Amino acid sequence: MALNVKTLENRAKKTLLEAQDLEQLEGVFKQYLGSKGELTLFLRSLAKLPKAKRKSAGKAANEAKATLSIVFEEQKKKLQKGSAQKGQEPFDVTAPGTRIERGHLHPITLVQRRAENIFRSMGFEIAQGPEIETEWYNFDALNIAKDHPARDMWDTFWLKPQNQRERLLLRTHTSPVQIRYMESHEPPLRIISPGRCFRYEATDASHEFNFYQLEGLMVGKDVTASNFKAVIQEFLTRLFAKPVTVRLRPTYFPFTEPSFEVDASCVICQAKGCSVCGGDGWLELMGAGMVHPNVLKAVGYNPKDWTGFAFGVGIERLAMLKYRVNDIRLFFGGDLKFLQQF
Ligand code: DAH
Repeated sequence: MALNVKTLENRAKKTLLEAQDLEQLEGVFKQYLGSKGELTLFLRSLAKLPKAKRKSAGKAANEAKATLSIVFEEQKKKLQKGSAQKGQEPFDVTAPGTRIERGHLHPITLVQRRAENIFRSMGFEIAQGPEIETEWYNFDALNIAKDHPARDMWDTFWLKPQNQRERLLLRTHTSPVQIRYMESHEPPLRIISPGRCFRYEATDASHEFNFYQLEGLMVGKDVTASNFKAVIQEFLTRLFAKPVTVRLRPTYFPFTEPSFEVDASCVICQAKGCSVCGGDGWLELMGAGMVHPNVLKAVGYNPKDWTGFAFGVGIERLAMLKYRVNDIRLFFGGDLKFLQQF
């Protein structure tokens, strides 16, 4: 009798494992363990057996029942999982897809590209220089003497000296690109050089230790300050898409003579006076000047033959005015709520 139960158990187990879907599985289970199932009927028939045989046969049959119930549950789980994976959920092939989120350009990049396009249309080339500079290009060639207090105007990140003969630093402005470009080109020339600069200073709403500048340089025969004024006025008018007038105030830079502080009529209030321009209608925008003869000499040009103008403007400053942003730190904070507005 015990042997027969084992045979029955094996057969039932095999058929349970072969079931292809839940319906089939239930059917097999019923066939053996339903109210009229083979094993159920066998268990019921035990009562009629002589006592001696009843005990061992009953044990074998109950064990078979327990095993088959476990196999049934496991197989059921497997088939349920399989049907979920096959995607029994209705699938609407006409439904629109999930939109893939696309990134976009950073506001600083937007302003930089706009500026590049405007200058390119006026015949300026775009020049690049390294962010790690030598002391020569960042200071010396720009007529900033070793012991001159002007060197303190740029708080510098110096790099740890390695084996090189010259000290290296993170460039504090884009002006060294002027030198690099002039060294390898002959005038006449017109370039702008946008790029990242670094200064070792505390941050606040208008200062960052990492920022972008746009350098400009034009050298030719009889290039004058009026050429500069015309070029920069055209640039600002197109960048802000509003008429802008420019005024020059005298100031000091070691690499220009004369040097100017460049103010633009306020692009927020059209020079009527507002909180951004401090009420006087003018915005202080950039530094500029006529290239110093010593700078021309440093790159091997004869200052008697050539003159030029140069300027340097903060790209963040332009972006803050264009997009009405009141804190420079927002550009580098990585806050998507800010960045997604552009
Ligand atoms: N390099 C200056 C700065 O970082 C800006 C500047 C002023 C650049 C006058 C120039 C210039 O080319 O002529 O403050």
